[in-house]
Amino acid sequence: MTEQYIARRMERIAPFYVMDLLAKAKQLEAAGRSVVHMEVGQPDFAAPAPVAAAGKAAIDAGKTGYTPATGIPELRQAIADHYRDRFGLAIDSHRIIVTPGSSGGLQLLMGVLINPGQEVLMTDPGYPCNKNFVEFVSGVPVSVPVGPETDYQLTAEMVRQAWTERTRAVLVASPANPTGTVLSRDALREIYQVVRERGGVLIVDEIYQGLIYELEAFTALDVADDIFVLNSFSKYFGMTGWRLGWIVAPPFFVDPIDCLAQNIFLSCSAPAQYAALRAFSDDCLAIFEQRRQEFRRRRDFLLPALQEIGFSFPAVPQGAFYLYADCSSLTDDSFRLAYDLLEKEGVAVTPGKDFGTNRAAQHIRFAYTTDVERMNDGVERIRRYFR
Ligand SMILES: Cc1ncc(COP(=O)(O)O)c(C=O)c1O
Repeated sequence: MTEQYIARRMERIAPFYVMDLLAKAKQLEAAGRSVVHMEVGQPDFAAPAPVAAAGKAAIDAGKTGYTPATGIPELRQAIADHYRDRFGLAIDSHRIIVTPGSSGGLQLLMGVLINPGQEVLMTDPGYPCNKNFVEFVSGVPVSVPVGPETDYQLTAEMVRQAWTERTRAVLVASPANPTGTVLSRDALREIYQVVRERGGVLIVDEIYQGLIYELEAFTALDVADDIFVLNSFSKYFGMTGWRLGWIVAPPFFVDPIDCLAQNIFLSCSAPAQYAALRAFSDDCLAIFEQRRQEFRRRRDFLLPALQEIGFSFPAVPQGAFYLYADCSSLTDDSFRLAYDLLEKEGVAVTPGKDFGTNRAAQHIRFAYTTDVERMNDGVERIRRYFR
């Protein structure tokens, strides 16, 4: 049995190029070479000890069965309380659906909102899986090229221009991957207005919420109640492998999402949910705040260091842990550059090609998920490469 058995949708789902790079990096490391990792899209901090202990305690107490598909009520309430404490917003915990990472949330939202043939607008560059979640439900992802003029974000005008009678949804992320840029409250409100006037839905990916450095943090739920918000324990909370996220949905949509979640996932991991509950306590929040400061320090180190080498950052990355560098003054082939940097200097970065096709060959993503000392070593190696 060979290709003819593979469903046709798989032709449109591309693997991550960075995975191939990562495999090469591992080979080099196995052969004794040192590699500075600036490609990894996950914090180098694990879940804080009290969170891990709560997960272990849940296992020891036998809290390991299925939970309600929408999550344990205590965790939904804790998330609702978090919106109250951080943003002064009263969100009914019933509107919160706990999901297997925000990836699970994206799958549920596409399944519940998108009919076959309907279009979903998103940015290019953008998080590469987004289009595949749309493909998976036989929707049509429409990538809109964005650049530094709009902080690599969609604008209301772009949404207006790209809208067709088949458009159903707009998906934005703030802070965004790979650019680390954020949408202002006004920009988000304008996009929301265009989307609602046209009878569509707005989905806002807030998975990097909490990792924002100068600007005032806000949530899209502050702009309107009928926005679908995605969030996750992966990044700010340092729990990538626990596989836990959440959706905040308008009340009417909770039951359909619950129904689909029951069918697709049955439930999220029970121990992970009990662990996540602990993440909202003051001691853990203090740890997350320290980590945020550390990420900021790293950004403030890496950005000027790369500028000195010749990379440019026409839009200031305000959040997440990524720098999306324009490398056009150094190369016209960022894919080649990524492989060269790895093979010749042992520095792993992600080529622009992983995030779309819009000027991808002129961009490279650096993740500052490595400490400053190690990054400094990486920067020295890159400097040597260009010398
Ligand atoms: C913008 C964005 N959305 C969603 C995800 C999915 O993450 P998770 O499923 O771990 O919540 C990622 C992961 O890197 C991301 O960068």
